[in-house]
Order: sequence, then structure tokens, then C-alpha cells
Amino acid sequence: MSARPRDGFAPRGVVPGFEPALREDHARDVAIAADLHDPEDVLACILDPKRRGTLYPYLHRLRTLAPILRTEQATGRPARVVTSHAAVREALRHPDVRSDERGTAAFDVGPKGTAFVEMQKNTLLFLPPAKHDRVRTLISRAFTPRSVELREDRISRVIDDLIDEVGTAGRMDLVHDFAFRLPMVVICEMLGVPAEDLPTFYDWAIASSRRGEIGGITDEIVRAGEEATHGYTRYFLDLIEDHRRRPRFDLMSALIDARNEDGSRLSDEELVGSCYILLQAGHGTTQDLLGMGMLALLRHPEQLEHLRRHPEKIPTAVEELLRYDTSVQVSQRVADEPFRLGDTTIGGDEVCILLNGAANRDPAVFSEPDRLDVTRQPNPHVSFGLGRHTCLGASLARMELRCAIDALLRRLPTLRLDDEAKPAHRDSLFLRGLATLPVRFEPVAARSA
Ligand code: HEM
Repeated sequence: MSARPRDGFAPRGVVPGFEPALREDHARDVAIAADLHDPEDVLACILDPKRRGTLYPYLHRLRTLAPILRTEQATGRPARVVTSHAAVREALRHPDVRSDERGTAAFDVGPKGTAFVEMQKNTLLFLPPAKHDRVRTLISRAFTPRSVELREDRISRVIDDLIDEVGTAGRMDLVHDFAFRLPMVVICEMLGVPAEDLPTFYDWAIASSRRGEIGGITDEIVRAGEEATHGYTRYFLDLIEDHRRRPRFDLMSALIDARNEDGSRLSDEELVGSCYILLQAGHGTTQDLLGMGMLALLRHPEQLEHLRRHPEKIPTAVEELLRYDTSVQVSQRVADEPFRLGDTTIGGDEVCILLNGAANRDPAVFSEPDRLDVTRQPNPHVSFGLGRHTCLGASLARMELRCAIDALLRRLPTLRLDDEAKPAHRDSLFLRGLATLPVRFEPVAARSA
């Protein structure tokens, strides 16, 4: 459901390829999880796309039964699934435990899916350490808290324009009409992607993130992932060429201009990989956090009311929304040699699958972890990762979330869930998020009216 059509953003029902209404029955899932005694059965439930709505009872159960579970990936490769806060933190910060090209093996589906895998190898998440650090240093200049602060006015204007567009309709799909568009506009402007090209990315972005999931990868998902990869590659190569001819003051020109220590420049593949990860990581994660965060607030009216009365508490609330239901649920790590994680020795050939959502609700660290408490402090969640791959866009994401929640509460004071249409999760686990979040409110005039 969408309030009204706009150029390039056709109104959509449920995103193609995603299940319309995934089952969400918390009490029932708590009971089912409590009855499971084999951690492998619990893991099967976690990986089951039908249970996305109520993932947390299973994460709790797995942490209780086996906080560092030894298992195997579909390929037969040994793996550890890590759910305790202490072990997830330790793995993320361990100097000998890395995220590099080996992590892309999880996406390998043979010859029909190579373009996607090759693209991943050129992204920050999977570059070899020395190259990673060089590219990261370069990109991070655009993401310092100061650089991000300078964007606040622009971010607020984008938010106000989006609210103006839907204000008189009295209803919107908060995912399609708002949460998708805000971070996409912001990151495209930073990168130097023209605004009129934004609609091009809608289907590519979804196809690409679905392809990057574990499990349930059908031929159609592989095909769509390849198409999206080729689309992104062609698009970015053309734009890079255009920036070479006419350099601008944007991130793409900075990346093109950057020199390696030996004086060479980033290769076209590295440039495309960097643009891709910034666009993909820069919009989907924030979109999903905003969607799930607003859903959590709308389901807890007393917390929402508290924020309306104390908007100065929104930054603290943002940290709690990041903890309560995070969009990046999985990080992967691997070492060269055996290493210790808590009391466990992990083999050098074992992939560590770190479940961030489980760490964020570990009762050893968070009191009443299933309770949303927008005043919670301290809040040592791991939603932006830690160590070498800590989220580069954390300052930007925090600002977007803070400004968006502030504007939604202020400008749409009667915002509520739509009684006639239900929110639905996507069937994804790595990148958890909503496919749709229908909401209603008393119509408000646009600012210029
Ligand atoms: C709420 C929003 C966001 C969340 C929850 C999030 C979460 C994360 C996490 C957990 C990681 C670490 C992955 C790992 O260790 O394997 C990460 C990395 C990254 N994020 Fe974010 N992110 C968000 C927003 C953004 C934004 C807005 C941008 C950029 C515009 C961004 C760019 C990146 C990049 C480039 C990396 C890779 C860093 C590296 O490998 O060195 N993220 N993010």
C-alpha cells in the first residue's frame, strides 16, 4: 500500500519475492522454543524464513543451550554460531579473527552466480586487510562525525519533503514512502549519484540484499542477484567515467582521485565495489532500522508518548532501537590458526557466524532484555559491529534515525498503526527488516501550503 504514486516510485504491495505476512505470535514461539532441546533444531528455526517476526525466542534458546554452537554450513564446512554478548564482542575485536575474501564462500552457488560473488570480494567487508585499511581510510573522511554534522540541515530537508508528500493523504507505507527513500537520497547525494537515477536502484537493491542471505537461495534469487550486479556495475562504470571527465566535490571523485602508496589508483573493480557497498550498506540497514524502530515504538505507545514529551531523549532511544531489533543480524569471521573464544578453542578452518541480535538481548548484560526501554543506559549493543570493520556509517545512520524519528513524532502527532493492513517482515535474516509498515495519521498540510 502506498499513499499515492510518485515519479519512478510505483505504489507497491508487498515487495516481490518476499512473503506477504510472516507469522508473528510471540507467546507461541516462546513456548515452541522452550520445548526444543537440541540446539540444531533451534538453529533450524532461526534459519526458517517463516519465523522472522518472532526471531528472538529462538535466539534466547540457542544462547541458553549452546552459546558457541559447533555446526556445519550447507557446504559441509565447519562453523560456529555465536550468540553470547561476551563471545560476539571478543570475536569482533580479536586481532587474529578477520572478515576477508573467505567469507564470500557463503554466497558461492557455482558458475551461475559468479558476478555477485566477485563484486562482494571488492567491497570493504571482504578485501584483504592491507587493502581494506587503505580504502577504509579514504572513505572514512566523508563519514567523520564532523562531516556528518554538516549534512544535518540537508537530511532534515529531505525528511520534511518526504512528510510533505504524504501528509495530506493521512496514510502511508512507512517503509516504501519514507524509510527506503530517506537513506537512499542521502547516500546517493554523498556519492554523487543524480537524484533522477534513484528509482533505478529500487529493484537492484532488494535483489542484491536477498541474494546475500544464507539459505533459501533459489535459481530466481540467483538470477535476480546477477542481473542487479550487472546493472550496478554498468551504472557505476558509466558514472565513474563521467566523474573522470568532470570531477566534482563528492565521494566518487575523491575515490577516483585517491592514490595508493605506490602512486597507483584504485582499480575500476575496487571503485565499483566501494560505490556498491556504500549504496547498499548505506541505505538498506538504515531503512530497516527505521522501519523496525518505528514499529517497536508504535507497539509501545507509552514509550512513544515519553519521547513526544521529551524529544531530547531521542538519541538515547535510537540506541535502544538499535539494540532492540537490529537490521544487521549476522557478521561472519574466520581466522588462519586455531584461537580461543571464551573457554572454547575454534579451529582455523571454522567460520564464526556471529548473531548480533542474540548478543543484543543477552540477559548477562541487559536487564529485562526483551523490554523496550527508550531510556536504557548504558547500552553496549553490538549493532554497529566492533573492531576493524566497525560500521563506517554509524554517525550518519544515527543522525538519520534521530532526525527522522523527531520529525515523524513532531509533524505527525497522531501517527498510529493502520488497523486494516498489517506490517510484514521480509524473509531475510542477515539483513532483517520489514517489507511493509502501513500507518495512518490525521492529514497534515505541507509546510509550503
Ligand atoms: C542503522 C544502520 C546501520 C547498521 C545497523 C549498520 C551495521 C553495520 C555492521 C554491523 C557492520 C559490520 C559488519 C561486520 O562486522 O561484518 C557495518 C559495516 C559497514 N557499514 Fe554499516 N550499518 C548501518 C548504516 C550504515 C550507513 C548509513 C553506511 C554508509 C553510508 C554504512 C556503511 C558501512 C560500511 C561501508 C561497512 C563496512 C566497514 C568495513 O568493512 O570496514 N552503514 N555496518
